[in-house]
Amino acid sequence: MNMERLATDFAGIKMATPVMGASGTFGFGIEYSDFLDLKKVGAIISKGITPVPRAGNNGVRIAETPSGMLNCIGLENPGIDRFLSDVLPRVRQQAPDTAFIANFSAGTVEDYGMMAAKLDVDGVDGVEVNISCPNVKEGGIVFGTDPKAAAAVTESVKKNTSKPVIVKLSPNVTDITVMAKAVEDAGADAIALINTLTGMVVDIRTWKPLLGNITGGLSGPAVKPIAVRMVWQVANAVKVPILGLGGIATAEDAIEFLLAGASAVAVGAENFIHPDAVVKVAEGVDSYLESRGLKHVSELVGQLRI
Ligand SMILES: Cc1cc2nc3c(=O)[nH]c(=O)nc-3n(C[C@H](O)[C@H](O)[C@H](O)COP(=O)(O)O)c2cc1C
Repeated sequence: MNMERLATDFAGIKMATPVMGASGTFGFGIEYSDFLDLKKVGAIISKGITPVPRAGNNGVRIAETPSGMLNCIGLENPGIDRFLSDVLPRVRQQAPDTAFIANFSAGTVEDYGMMAAKLDVDGVDGVEVNISCPNVKEGGIVFGTDPKAAAAVTESVKKNTSKPVIVKLSPNVTDITVMAKAVEDAGADAIALINTLTGMVVDIRTWKPLLGNITGGLSGPAVKPIAVRMVWQVANAVKVPILGLGGIATAEDAIEFLLAGASAVAVGAENFIHPDAVVKVAEGVDSYLESRGLKHVSELVGQLRI
């Protein structure tokens, strides 16, 4: 892998490659060290961190679906204080050279600001603001479907941090560009999309919903065409860089996102099938660049021919 061709500065976050591990599918990164070389991971994006520890939802939390999966984990995580005292030091010790982006959410605009302030520490290279979790009652998606609320959260986070702020959008809206423009105007340094699409599976033996939370978030290859379409729409609507994700399993998938306008990408559900996918995708992107005689991955970004 030619690291010069892949080295990426995403919204001020320096990365070895433009391919990251997506929030909630990559732990805190260090759990994957047996499967891949963390130095070749563009960035670790953490599981969503919340103001207090969360046990997550009861009952069944994962359902396989055609070409994808539904999940309703419910933001299980150790909470911000234990993240800072216990998890982050281990990440920095075991993956000192990998960019680390802390994904977080909260129940109120004020708490989003409080979380941003607490995460404004050495060892965190950027924050990803989750306003799009469909699986929790408070916070999350409430902010992700209302442009005014999304802007208020973004402003609150920006006011409280010196780190680059990536706002992660929900695809569960009619016009994604309205949300993208709202958070850009409120100061977001970058936009990530997409989070999961709300879905549901019915168990016909019991006549009950299969998932404990009734509904869950759909991810995996099934959502990729929707994600690519949304990246393209948002790339035409905003100036800030875009982190594209949703169904990326191969280098070819990642290249689609880059051509559609994403400056970097993340691998999510595919990590559960191939735990080395983040690096395999980066290697494949590099081979593609070489085969096309391109010197740097940025030469692909937004080059879609219409
Ligand atoms: C099990 C699971 C847990 C997730 N947890 C989070 C989370 O904590 N915060 C977040 O912003 N996104 C979370 N996501 C969404 C992913 O980061 C990603 O946006 C989505 O799954 C689409 O990408 P994919 O199709 O490659 O999985 C989660 C996804 C899955 C499958």
